[in-house]
Amino acid sequence: MHIQQNISLKPYNTFGVECMARYFVSVHTIEELQEALSLPNYSKKFLLGGGSNLLLTGPVDALVIHVNLKGISIENQNKDHINISCMAGENWHDFVLFCIQNNYGGLENLSLIPGNVGTAPIQNIGAYGVELKDVFLKCDAIEIATSKKVTFTCQQCEFGYRDSIFKTAKKGQYVITRVVFKLTKNNHKIQTQYGAINEHLSNAKVSNPSIRQVSDAVIAIRQSKLPDPKKLGNSGSFFKNPVVDSKTFEVFHAKFPEAPFYVMSHSEFKIPAGWLIQQAGFKGKRFGDAGVHKKQALVLVNYGNATGAQIWELALTIQKKVATDFGIAIEAEVNVL
Ligand code: EPU
Repeated sequence: MHIQQNISLKPYNTFGVECMARYFVSVHTIEELQEALSLPNYSKKFLLGGGSNLLLTGPVDALVIHVNLKGISIENQNKDHINISCMAGENWHDFVLFCIQNNYGGLENLSLIPGNVGTAPIQNIGAYGVELKDVFLKCDAIEIATSKKVTFTCQQCEFGYRDSIFKTAKKGQYVITRVVFKLTKNNHKIQTQYGAINEHLSNAKVSNPSIRQVSDAVIAIRQSKLPDPKKLGNSGSFFKNPVVDSKTFEVFHAKFPEAPFYVMSHSEFKIPAGWLIQQAGFKGKRFGDAGVHKKQALVLVNYGNATGAQIWELALTIQKKVATDFGIAIEAEVNVL
């Protein structure tokens, strides 16, 4: 195992911010991961996956363990379903494409989400009407304190909107090493109810879409709205869409009847943070090299040399203005370190 010193994390975070790690090691096997976790001379350890949901605001004075576990295998299958296992370090979108090429259905709406497979369950990634939890069977993890292997079922993960037990009760306690997905081999459940997908498919005159056609539509929609991290540093949605109670919603709705919203339950309403940030005047605005994307106000971007601290300062300014203008608190979805 090769431990390096003073390594730049710029290539390892999709915001593309410069940030030094005091120590760095890339692990390729579970054994190497366990060994790195139990190294006695490094009291602070930081686990790094695809770096797509991460804002680094200062030097990382720790041993950064880059989880680089690779491999895809079939656990079991019958004529209708397949349980497919994917190691944590595989790129999420490459895995989605692998499944589509093999006609395994379920992940197509989640095409082109940046990041790795192992970090997808942490925030229960979701897009276009589907969340990871809908296709998740189980995941294996290593407990950081003991290096012991543990398995979490879907129920044990306590998935919620951009949320799981790995962000709440068990935060910072486990490294996910592999995820097993339950996918379909035929009679795929095609989900095109999300407005933009239907619109895209009907423009392309597709009436009975295949999983590949749904994936292509999602890719086209994302590319039209969301910046490619390889070209413009970003971390997808920076904030979560706030979920408010009926009392807060009534006050808000009476004042801003034009605002879009989704009914979550009889007492919970989700308000798009993108709308709030746009109305607060930030869409497309640039402050030095930190900015708010011009096509989607929920996405903060790095035009080149912004520091993590500058991006975080912009996020705080946005949070404050949204709270003042609308009386609604918006929370970062991204992990801020
Ligand atoms: N809106 C605006 N201005 C904007 C952006 C959005 O007014 O600048 C309005 C839209 O007009 C629409 C509503 O807000 O009425 C919702 O917008 P959109 O459909 O683009 O989705 P979103 O709620 O902004 C969420 C996810 C995205 C996911 C899309 C599509 C969160 C935090 N974000 O965005 O996820 O791709 O839905 O399903 O839930 C991510 O998590 O990184 C991500 C990109």
